[in-house]
Amino acid sequence: MKVLYVSNEVAPYAKVGGLGDVAGTLPPALADLGIDVRVVMPLHRQCLEHDSYEVALPALEANMGRRTCTARVLTNTLPASSVPIYFIEYDQYFDRPEIYGEGGKDYPDAAERYAFFARAVQALPEALGFDADVIHANDWPTGLVPVFAREQASAPTIYTIHNLAYQGQFPREKAAALGIEPGSAAMRAVLRDGALNYMAAGIRTATLVSTVSERYAQEIGTEQYGDGLEDLLLARSADLHGVLNGIDYDVWNPRTDRALPVNFSAEDLAPKGECKAALQAEMGLPVKPEVPLVGCVSRMAWQKGLDILAEVIPEAMKTPMQFAILGTGEQDLEEKYADLDKAYPQAVAARISYDEGLAHRIYAGSDLFAMPSRYEPCGLGQMISMCYGTIPVVHATGGLADTVTEHGDQQTGFVLEELTATALLAALRRAAEAIADDIGWRTIMLNAMRQDFSWNQSAQRYKELYDLAVSRAAD
Ligand code: ADP
Ligand code: GLC
Repeated sequence: MKVLYVSNEVAPYAKVGGLGDVAGTLPPALADLGIDVRVVMPLHRQCLEHDSYEVALPALEANMGRRTCTARVLTNTLPASSVPIYFIEYDQYFDRPEIYGEGGKDYPDAAERYAFFARAVQALPEALGFDADVIHANDWPTGLVPVFAREQASAPTIYTIHNLAYQGQFPREKAAALGIEPGSAAMRAVLRDGALNYMAAGIRTATLVSTVSERYAQEIGTEQYGDGLEDLLLARSADLHGVLNGIDYDVWNPRTDRALPVNFSAEDLAPKGECKAALQAEMGLPVKPEVPLVGCVSRMAWQKGLDILAEVIPEAMKTPMQFAILGTGEQDLEEKYADLDKAYPQAVAARISYDEGLAHRIYAGSDLFAMPSRYEPCGLGQMISMCYGTIPVVHATGGLADTVTEHGDQQTGFVLEELTATALLAALRRAAEAIADDIGWRTIMLNAMRQDFSWNQSAQRYKELYDLAVSRAAD
């Protein structure tokens, strides 16, 4: 089985959120199952800051209708694996300060950037002599990949939805510059409500569609979660699969994590207390072992419910409780947390930045991890925190509902059925009470640390989907 895995983000080269983590860690797990998988992404400026690369192809032509763009293809292998990754180098589109755009907005030529990328991806297998059996595309920047694959009658495709809220919508007048002809099948696939919609195009044309948890796969067929595309998703429900993400235990492992001041494990939990003290000191919070410390590492976006967390902090901290927050994103949320940090220096420390090392120390050093997301296709933060015995407080939605339970002797976290400030405050208070019971708390921590969020099972599920896609194409 030969698979070309396509993503706009791949960690560690260029990452904004969980998509990057998934694209950087699923392919090696697929390779372990004997799949010949290769990854392709645009050569973003961030990729160059990370490493240097060899030239795989000096010239790859991408046909954009009225014009042909010639790209260079660079290559390397994904860290700690033998999975080849290809970078489409086309500086006019991708040598930019940010991956998507600045100030929370996509760059104005986003339609062209990702139509070009999809055309380049379409041309890549033949140019490399890599006869892909399946092309696996991810999220809206790759939504045209299945469209062009169908147009060229090339390999069957899988399109994975990581976040339905970001669809890649553009004025239909752009179509001509993308080489999408009026009246063509490609045009019909990409038009939605009078505009171009790359997400809709991927959903309509891929051989199979998947998303990153079973629960989200169910949810997106409803008006509440479908972001206006629920009819398309329902129409494809027989081909829509939910496959939970995994995480990379080489990166997220309290036994070996080099970002921590000391390491710990389920068998030796005591050093976690040192991680907490060091985190309190690093964040400028009073070093108090008895005060519950709530961590949060997140994109600051409406999705994440951080406005609701901000609302309850002044009340929650009276318990007492401390908060260590790391994130960047929407300006109003960044300001809200900067203000809380200023107003309550004894209880709230907010770092408005992207910082991998600090993220590790927050996952490890906190008692609780807040993820009150309005919706969450999968969520990696709750899985990562559980590995470190840091107990998630989550809203029962999407992957959070599939991975965290507050029930019985298997409890791994605290779960809000409804996302309201009152419910969040109540959950934080339940958690603070539970922490006070040493033996009970230890059981919850060990339950959380025992969970297996490795890629093993999910990589196997993708393998089955690849087989299914190939058999569909043969029908
Ligand atoms: P999403 O993809 O919606 O952002 P996920 O929970 O799937 O949410 O993945 C988020 C990933 O991004 C996690 O690996 C998290 O640790 C990381 N992350 C988010 N914000 C930051 C930040 N400010 N600094 C470091 N890592 C971050
Ligand atoms: C998206 C989702 C997140 C998911 C990630 C990786 O960014 O918001 O829930 O974990 O993609 O699939």
